[in-house]
Amino acid sequence: MDILKAFDEYESTALLAIEAATSAEQLEQVRIEFLGQKKGKLRDLQSLIGKASKEEKPAVGKRFNEVRTSVADRLEAQAASVTCEAVDLEPSFDVTLPGTVPQLGTLHPVTKTIMRFRELMGRFGFEVVEGPELEDERHNFEALNIPNDHPARDPLDNFYIATAKSTSGGPVLLRSQTSTVQIRTMENQPPPIRIVSLGRVYRPDTIDRTHSCMFHQMEGLMVDRNVTMAQLKTLLTLFAHSFLGPDVKIRFRPSFFPFTEPSVEVDMKWGDSWMEIGGAGMVDPNVFRAVGYDPEEVTGFAFGLGIERFCMKHFEVDDIRRFYENDVRFLNQL
Ligand code: FA5
Repeated sequence: MDILKAFDEYESTALLAIEAATSAEQLEQVRIEFLGQKKGKLRDLQSLIGKASKEEKPAVGKRFNEVRTSVADRLEAQAASVTCEAVDLEPSFDVTLPGTVPQLGTLHPVTKTIMRFRELMGRFGFEVVEGPELEDERHNFEALNIPNDHPARDPLDNFYIATAKSTSGGPVLLRSQTSTVQIRTMENQPPPIRIVSLGRVYRPDTIDRTHSCMFHQMEGLMVDRNVTMAQLKTLLTLFAHSFLGPDVKIRFRPSFFPFTEPSVEVDMKWGDSWMEIGGAGMVDPNVFRAVGYDPEEVTGFAFGLGIERFCMKHFEVDDIRRFYENDVRFLNQL
């Protein structure tokens, strides 16, 4: 049958042409020639089916499909091998070279210290609470027994926000200490209280090895019946030993804070010198009065620790500025 012969001929020429094609462009030409929808040779073959007699038609139709599939399959296989060869020959790509390792970040040492502080204070039974960084004068000063004429309220020693007002219409500032959270906590719940609050504070201090204008503090407050200074000193010593190791030396110096009486400054020994790490004391009765507690009924202690100072000692970093320069080479070492 002439028609079947034409199919055979089409198949063998197509397969030969496919084999001879060595580039994607050549292969595309072959595809257009043999399988193209518009002018391809396949269209001519298809028109032959109509010329077959009724008896021939089933065999012709079957063979047409076979031929079309075999040419299309071979074309596809050749296309894959032509592409592979092209990749293999590409001189600028060497599969044996080591890959580019993505740079992974790590937690900042101050963040790590904060996480550890929370965990340790949790073990001592202290709940973690949060407070705002933008504060009004009541929470940053007044309720903490810091009178209007106290030098700590000097606008030059604080970051007041000129463009904002508190809900009561008063000035607002970036909090200069986390002691604000003592007031917010006592305003909202009755005693007993055992909380810590960790976060940023802001002061226009002169920046040096141990001072930054933004740093972190951990505030602690315990209010109950019969809370003592001995408990405060024990807690702070145990805490420092847990974080810095049992060999670190801690000392308490008499000091003054308007919101505690008596007050102490807490220092740690680093090398041959002492570094101040926090302030603490027994909550002043005026603070209790400011939040509506009866100072005859309750007692309490409070403390505020400089988180960066602990972090410095722990990681043996002798300059606080390193923490805020964002030098990845430094941060990766901690
Ligand atoms: C206070 O801020 C008190 N609110 C602490 C307090 C809380 C006392 C509760 C009593 C009761 P002081 O200003 O000393 O205290 O700061 C506490 C600690 O923060 C310091 O001991 C120091 O470790 C750290 N600190 C203070 N200023 C800076 C600074 N500019 N940069 C880094 N750390 C600082």
